Amino acid sequence: MAIDPRIDTLRLPQHVAVIMDGNGRWAKQRGKLRTFGHTNGVKAVRETVETAAEIGIPFLTLYAFSTENWNRPKMEVSALMTLLVRTIHKETKTLMDNNIRLNAIGDLDSLPKSCHRELNEAMERTSGNTRMTLTLALSYSAKWELVQMVRSIVKDARAGALNERDVNEALIAQRLCTAGMPDVELLIRTSGEHRVSNFLLWQIAYAEFHFTEKLWPDFGAADLEQAIIDFQGRERRFGKISEQVREVV
Ligand code: IPE
Ligand code: IPE
Ligand code: MG
Repeated sequence: MAIDPRIDTLRLPQHVAVIMDGNGRWAKQRGKLRTFGHTNGVKAVRETVETAAEIGIPFLTLYAFSTENWNRPKMEVSALMTLLVRTIHKETKTLMDNNIRLNAIGDLDSLPKSCHRELNEAMERTSGNTRMTLTLALSYSAKWELVQMVRSIVKDARAGALNERDVNEALIAQRLCTAGMPDVELLIRTSGEHRVSNFLLWQIAYAEFHFTEKLWPDFGAADLEQAIIDFQGRERRFGKISEQVREVV
C-alpha cells in the first residue's frame, strides 16, 4: 500500500486510539443480527492495524469491549467473546508477519478463561516485535483503571513505601494500564457519536479528536489516513498562543 502523500511521516501522532463504534447499526441497516456487524468489524480492525503499522504509528489502542458492555444481552456478550478468541488465534500470524506486538489493558481476569488464555499466548508470542504496539482495551473503563491506580498508591503509602510528596503526574501515569506508553495524540470515534464512553480519560488529556460518521465495519485505510491528515492540519497550542507555537519560516 502506498501511503497518502499528504501525510507527513515526520509528524505522526505517536499514539492513536480508536473507539470502534457502529457495528450493531451497520448490521441493522442490512436486516441482520447485531453480531453480524461485529464479525464484519474484524476486517476493519485488520485494515486499521496494518495501515497504522505501514504509516509508522508506534502505538495503536483499540477499544474493543468496555466494562459497561457486560450489560448487553448475554447472547451478544458471548458472541463477542467467541469472536475475540477466534480473531486473536487467527491473527497472531499476521501480527508476527508485520512485527506487531500485542498488548491488552482492562480487567482481563473478568474475561472468559479461553479468551484470557488466547490473549496471553498471543501477547507472549508477539512480545519481541518492535514495529508497533497494538493494545486492545478489553473489559476496560477509564474509571475502573483510575480506581486501580488509587488503590495501588494507597497500598504503597500504607506500607510506608510512598509519601504524599511522591505523588505526581509521572507516578500516576506509571500506575495506569498504559504505563510506558506516550499519551494519546489522536482519538478517533466512528459512527457519528461524539462522546468518550469511559475510554482513557487521563491519557487523552491533550488528544485531538476526530469523529467520523462511518460505521466501524466501513472504516478502512483511507479513513485512518484522513484522520491523520486532519490531525496534522490542527494547531496544537498546549495552552500557549498561536504565535508561540507557529514555526518560524
Ligand atoms: C461497537 O459497535 C462494538 C462494541 C461496542 C463491542 P456497537 O455494538 O456499539 O454498535 P452500535 O453502536 O450499537 O451500532
Ligand atoms: C464504546 O461503544 C465501547 C466500545 C467501542 C468497545 P458503546 O457503543 O458501548 O458506547 P455507548 O454505549 O454508545 O456510549
Ligand atoms: Mg455503540
